[in-house]
Amino acid sequence: MAENQLRLGVNIDHVATVRNARGGAVPDPVRAALLAQEAGADGITAHLREDRRHIMDADIEALMDQLKVPLNFEMAATDEMQAIALRHKPHAVCIVPEKREERTTEGGLEVAREENKLAHFIAPLRDAGCRVSIFIAADQKQIEAAHRIGAEVIELHTGAYCDAHAEGDFETRDRELVALREMSTFAHSLGLEVHAGHGLTYETVKPVAAFPEVRELNIGHFLIGEAIFAGLTPAIEQMRRLMNEARAGEL
Ligand code: PXP
Repeated sequence: MAENQLRLGVNIDHVATVRNARGGAVPDPVRAALLAQEAGADGITAHLREDRRHIMDADIEALMDQLKVPLNFEMAATDEMQAIALRHKPHAVCIVPEKREERTTEGGLEVAREENKLAHFIAPLRDAGCRVSIFIAADQKQIEAAHRIGAEVIELHTGAYCDAHAEGDFETRDRELVALREMSTFAHSLGLEVHAGHGLTYETVKPVAAFPEVRELNIGHFLIGEAIFAGLTPAIEQMRRLMNEARAGEL
């Protein structure tokens, strides 16, 4: 893949959310992942939560078995998840904060205050060959800490930017976008690979996709929702088209 090309990681968690609403086997998130792969996704992201509210252990096993594109395994920094990651050795592990009562991953990880603990936590994952990514807010202090603990990748949380857009608060949206842009540049200057994601839609993706330092976007909820109306393949193709346009300077 060309140095400047932006990868699209498709998060299939919410196919599992719909499946689990009825407790059966359909819709199957693994089938969605394979279809996303065929539609041109560069990777698949799946978050195994402590409460297994969407993705389950068997899904991770099947994804590891069947996917040809890399799996980005999202997890909280717990001993249970570390053991699962070390058993499967996915291409990438993305460490996210997790609170049982939240509806989604609401903020970035607090790295600066937990620096020692996190450094020890990620070391065996790195030794096992996983690329470790840390999901954080666009905050210089957190980025510096992620760099110090030995992460190779940071994923910037785009939720605040997307929420402000959805609420029509364009002043906040634009401020969040400036912070994301500046922190992408800053993280890249430290040698970190920069990813971004959370809440991105057709309306919000282009300004973030245009940041030259961003190498990967991880997008889930909107694409799975859009798949109801357009189908998963056309939804992914449309997202890819917008990302490519942004990269080519067409905003
Ligand atoms: N990146 C990370 C680290 C996430 O936790 C999530 C949500 O699980 C996403 C990307 C995708 O967010 P969304 O589903 O809102 O597109």
